[in-house]
Amino acid sequence: MPIFNEQEGRASGFASAKTIPITRVKAAQEVTRRELLEFALQASAAAIVGGLFDGRIAQRDSRAAIPELVFNAGGAQPARAQSPNENRIDVPSVQAVQHVRRMRGGAQAHLFRCSDGNFYVVKFKNNPQHLKVLANEMLATLLASLAGLPVPSVAVVNVSEWLIRTTPDLKIVLQNHAVPCESGLQFGARYVISPCPWDGQVFDYLPESMLKRVRNLESFAGILAFDKWTSNGDSRQAAFWRMMRQKKYTATFIDQGYCFNAEHWTFPDSPLKGLFPENEVYSHVSRWESFEPWLSCIEEMPEESILLAAETVPPEWYQSEWHPMEKLVHTLVARRGKVRDLITEFRTSSREPFPKWKTGF
Ligand SMILES: Nc1ncnc2c1ncn2[C@@H]1O[C@H](COP(=O)(O)OP(=O)(O)O)[C@@H](O)[C@H]1O
Ligand SMILES: [Mg+2]
Repeated sequence: MPIFNEQEGRASGFASAKTIPITRVKAAQEVTRRELLEFALQASAAAIVGGLFDGRIAQRDSRAAIPELVFNAGGAQPARAQSPNENRIDVPSVQAVQHVRRMRGGAQAHLFRCSDGNFYVVKFKNNPQHLKVLANEMLATLLASLAGLPVPSVAVVNVSEWLIRTTPDLKIVLQNHAVPCESGLQFGARYVISPCPWDGQVFDYLPESMLKRVRNLESFAGILAFDKWTSNGDSRQAAFWRMMRQKKYTATFIDQGYCFNAEHWTFPDSPLKGLFPENEVYSHVSRWESFEPWLSCIEEMPEESILLAAETVPPEWYQSEWHPMEKLVHTLVARRGKVRDLITEFRTSSREPFPKWKTGF
């Protein structure tokens, strides 16, 4: 049941240096794809510490060729893996310290202050959508960050039984009754800025006329390629945020829960799926170059990186069945080469999303 919270859309605060700085994304168009991949990992997978699932990953011995993917909590510089066998994507594990408020939306997420001092929007294992929404969020957000897209940092958030028992609002509201949120490991997306109203603002929606004031509007072409690749079954959602004194907004792409067709992990393609509702965000698209560097990052994403991202997902978020996850990875690998065709289907659809498209390129 969607729950509307009036506070939504007004909140916000300290700039997350961890959210991809868009100016750097633009600059990255001039650098090599390898550099971009490294940049994306630094900037977006930012608050990455500790080896939560090392044991599982260490069992595999086939990734000598994988780039080293371990990062500092600060996110500014990648830390080197200790040895070639420690190639991994480490996601921080944090403890929920204080409940802040309930968020809007079908997954009935909640905002928490956590042990690393950051705020996270947390989706619970027993959310009304599906357990696998947590796995989808983690995997898709990591993949989007590998593609250089502006997405929130992610974390595994441990919510204690005590916090749930002592916080009456920590309930999942079903049709006729409510049940307590489940304790244990949950998915957390770091709040795009601090939730202090005097620090800045976050909006789920901007009127069409305001979209011109979004500094990274070009990245909507990149997330379109990503949503086609991952067969996002939901409309594309972004958090539009700005710090006080900033005139321009920045879009950070949130809500990857229905990528891979929600809990089904199938890829039913359809031209009008996974889109942002307003064509305005695609207004600059005039040629294939408009999708760069993100499209090439997807097409050339190493299979090993996709596998590493999948291995980073806590197994309990997909019923600990590795075979379907492995199949998902293989499908994603195979679909890298299909993204251009899927974009073409959207381009030539009745929605006519790219009026400036120039043929002959
Ligand atoms: N990283 C984030 N930063 C700021 N707000 C967020 C973030 N993630 C989610 N939200 C807010 O929480 C709401 C619910 O999250 P969302 O991922 O869209 O879940 P749902 O699947 O329920 O729609 C969003 O509409 C947005 O207002
Ligand atoms: Mg949503």
